[in-house]
Amino acid sequence: MREFAGKVTAITGAGSGIGRALAYELARHGARLALSDIDEEAVRETAAVALGHGASETAASRVDVADRHAVQAWADETAGSFGTVNLVVNNAGVALTASVEEMDWDDFEWLMGVNFWGVAYGTKAFLPHLRRARDAHIVNISSVFGLMGIPTQSAYCAAKYAVRGFTESLRHEMRISGTGVRVTTVHPGGIRTNIARSARAAKGREVAALADEFDKVARTSPERAARVIVRGVKRNRSRIFVGPDATLIDVGQRLLGVGIEPLVRTFSGRSDLGTETPATAPRTPGAVR
Ligand SMILES: NC(=O)c1ccc[n+]([C@@H]2O[C@H](COP(=O)([O-])OP(=O)(O)OC[C@H]3O[C@@H](n4cnc5c(N)ncnc54)[C@H](O)[C@@H]3O)[C@@H](O)[C@H]2O)c1
Repeated sequence: MREFAGKVTAITGAGSGIGRALAYELARHGARLALSDIDEEAVRETAAVALGHGASETAASRVDVADRHAVQAWADETAGSFGTVNLVVNNAGVALTASVEEMDWDDFEWLMGVNFWGVAYGTKAFLPHLRRARDAHIVNISSVFGLMGIPTQSAYCAAKYAVRGFTESLRHEMRISGTGVRVTTVHPGGIRTNIARSARAAKGREVAALADEFDKVARTSPERAARVIVRGVKRNRSRIFVGPDATLIDVGQRLLGVGIEPLVRTFSGRSDLGTETPATAPRTPGAVR
């Protein structure tokens, strides 16, 4: 996609962080925006501000991406009212800090519902519409936690690895079948958004304290992340790494293989989990990438 002016772009989780910044960045390029979020007020605000940034048309909808029927209805409604869909960004996501042993099934399923199923539902719902468009691109947001395992992040890592596998397979399929639909996976490092403050944590772990730790290590602004993603889409990159930490992790992972694991444990604060004493639980810096 060489330019975004007039292109119909659907973004999930557009009420905050990367999704909101992407909406503003694409608005500046003159895109037509179909925005959704589970937080209706927040997404309406994004849509109103995006108009001021130059979006030629906006629509804001309350959509829970973990609800397959709601995502399907939104995709069909978007294609119907805008006439086509060119770019889809499956961005909505949540975070959870809990060791495998501590993790509640409800929290585990909540995270997978948003971070994995939300991406799968968005992809499958929009794909038939994208296939009909002349210029079409799908962008799924994974993470650097889709590149390596992290203590207390098993659910998040599982979802982000799943997004990566799902998206890479789709990219092959789109190329093999010659559809012209382009497919990109995004692996952000630490981005200064609300994700850690809206996160869940296992009993005994303090969300506010974890969010403070996250704020110290999340160096990249959502605006910068949006610019990097938009540039990567323009260049039709298969994978986009956002932030110097993401590039470092990608290179470190490829050079060291499992040799990176002692480093991960060191940077996570401790080499064991100590689940009986949550007060001394690992710091997991950047526990929500
Ligand atoms: N912030 C980071 O450091 C970081 C790093 C790597 C990947 N990511 C990923 O980037 C994406 C965006 O996260 P962010 O950092 O901008 O977080 P954020 O919390 O600022 O924004 C996430 C948005 O998703 C929405 N959302 C939550 N549950 C939803 C649901 N069920 N249905 C629809 N919308 C829902 C929230 O209301 C919010 O507006 C996520 O997929 C996240 O996993 C973030």
